Amino acid sequence: MPATKAQPKEMLPLVDKPLIQYGVEEAVRSGVKNIIIVTGRGKSAIEDHFDVSFELEHLLQSRGKEDLLAVVRAISEMIEIAYVRQKEALGLGHAVLRARDLVGEEPFAVVLSDDVIEAEAPCLRQLLEIYDTYGASVLALMEVPNEQIPAYGIVDAAPVRHNGRDDRLFRIHDLVEKPAAKDAPSNLAVIGRYVLTPEIFPCIEATEPGKGGEIQLTDGIRHLVARQPVYGYRFEGKRYDAGDKLGFLTATVEFALRRPDLGGRFREYLKSLLNSGNL
Ligand code: G1P
Repeated sequence: MPATKAQPKEMLPLVDKPLIQYGVEEAVRSGVKNIIIVTGRGKSAIEDHFDVSFELEHLLQSRGKEDLLAVVRAISEMIEIAYVRQKEALGLGHAVLRARDLVGEEPFAVVLSDDVIEAEAPCLRQLLEIYDTYGASVLALMEVPNEQIPAYGIVDAAPVRHNGRDDRLFRIHDLVEKPAAKDAPSNLAVIGRYVLTPEIFPCIEATEPGKGGEIQLTDGIRHLVARQPVYGYRFEGKRYDAGDKLGFLTATVEFALRRPDLGGRFREYLKSLLNSGNL
């Protein structure tokens, strides 16, 4: 706020690309073929972003801006997207349940676009590899310092040997949504990438409102853990919390530095700030 007063936060740009596009591109690079975006009131900019923009394409063509035209076309040609609306913001679990009919009886992935993850192998692909090996639901995990524990779903989990190491894969025994640090079972936090079996749907349906009065996905997964194995994977890569102002700024600076077309000049600018004593 206030930038998100009249536009969805998913459309805030990191450098020049809206947050949600990073999430969609990660899914596409992970091999996902169908995407469902759960939207709500005031979020039509998201649908327009991934749709064909005839007017804009025509304008760019007539002005000979072929490079920008290619960028704009690539977005709408990337993948087919279906939309389902969540009429009221009743929680993440509720949002996932809205996609039930479109998902059907198949495993599926959930990507929260305010968690932006920079990784050599896309985080979602890392999770899908675990799914392929174990045939079970798997959540992305990251260690967080004690003071950040109350911002996350935290797992109670035991390491499982995988690819010759004991520090990446975990079997989840329980989860708790946003506990106080003193009550947390560990400092392994759930980050916004999940691969879930369709049995999660009846589990969410049986979930009562939890933290913040919302239907929490974390609580739905607790029910799932009681029925079938659920794993957590401490992924390789760097995660930025773009839902937080400082996290958003950090991501903006680091993504700009990595850009081949901007990074060099931006680095020079930051150095000049440092040298002039303004940093
Ligand atoms: C959601 C989940 C939480 C998870 C977090 C990851 O919380 O409820 O379990 O740890 O995403 O970013 P939110 O950040 O939407 O409050």
